[in-house]
Amino acid sequence: MVLETLKVNKKSWDEVAHRFYGRNPLPDYGPLAPSEEDLHLLGDVAGCKVLDIGCGSGHSLLYMNERGAAELWGVDLSKTQIETARNVLADVTAPVQLFESPMENDPGLPSNYFDMVYSIFALGWTTDLQATIQNVHRYLKTGGTFIFSWEHPLHSRARLIDGSLHLDKSYHEEGPYDHEAWHALAIMQQLKVSTYINTLADHGFQIEKIIEDVALTEEDREKHENRWYSYEKATKLPTTLIIKCKKL
Ligand SMILES: C[S@@+](CC[C@H](N)C(=O)[O-])C[C@H]1O[C@@H](n2cnc3c(N)ncnc32)[C@H](O)[C@@H]1O
Repeated sequence: MVLETLKVNKKSWDEVAHRFYGRNPLPDYGPLAPSEEDLHLLGDVAGCKVLDIGCGSGHSLLYMNERGAAELWGVDLSKTQIETARNVLADVTAPVQLFESPMENDPGLPSNYFDMVYSIFALGWTTDLQATIQNVHRYLKTGGTFIFSWEHPLHSRARLIDGSLHLDKSYHEEGPYDHEAWHALAIMQQLKVSTYINTLADHGFQIEKIIEDVALTEEDREKHENRWYSYEKATKLPTTLIIKCKKL
């Protein structure tokens, strides 16, 4: 089942990668969410070894290069995304290491090596959160930082109808689902906020910050009308969950 899911998702991502080229990378954490410019979660990354989980087209790593990171590493399931990231990062000053691999597996990354591991809107694709968090923990140095953003677990369970929110899936329900906003078969994992927090705690992370805010401008009102991440829905519910934690 897991292998089948990864196969399906790899195929979908190879097909749709061009539509996600440079979409919402750092300094953004997600659509209609506060950005790094508002939150200042990263701190000083100059001289840091950083690893991007689900690095996509490589634009967040490009941002890390601009902030002076010493080494840029990335993992992504999709061959197309990794090829694109290689081009996007072709002229950066820092050394780059990219791996075509599911985040659930370790493609041979060093242990206790990274100052920061982060993941921008990719973690919810994992078919095995435990294995993924265990990997992240192993890659990080003690005291290293892990930051991730993902669609807020309430967002896909609630629907906005005539200005009111309706919960059409149980919040208790967890597991794989075929996401309706995708027009190709793509299987994401529905988890609860507590599952993310408890998995991090169980694997030796200390939570430093949880962010469930939105950042809405007048410009977004029109730009995000009738979208999956709609302005109106975001006035009532967070689009994005952001967690910052530290390896103990
Ligand atoms: C929305 S994109 C991420 C964008 C990227 N983080 C950025 O900052 O520009 C989600 C990425 O997750 C990758 N992905 C999906 N399932 C994955 C898995 N199991 N392991 C690793 N990467 C995965 C996809 O190929 C895609 O590139």
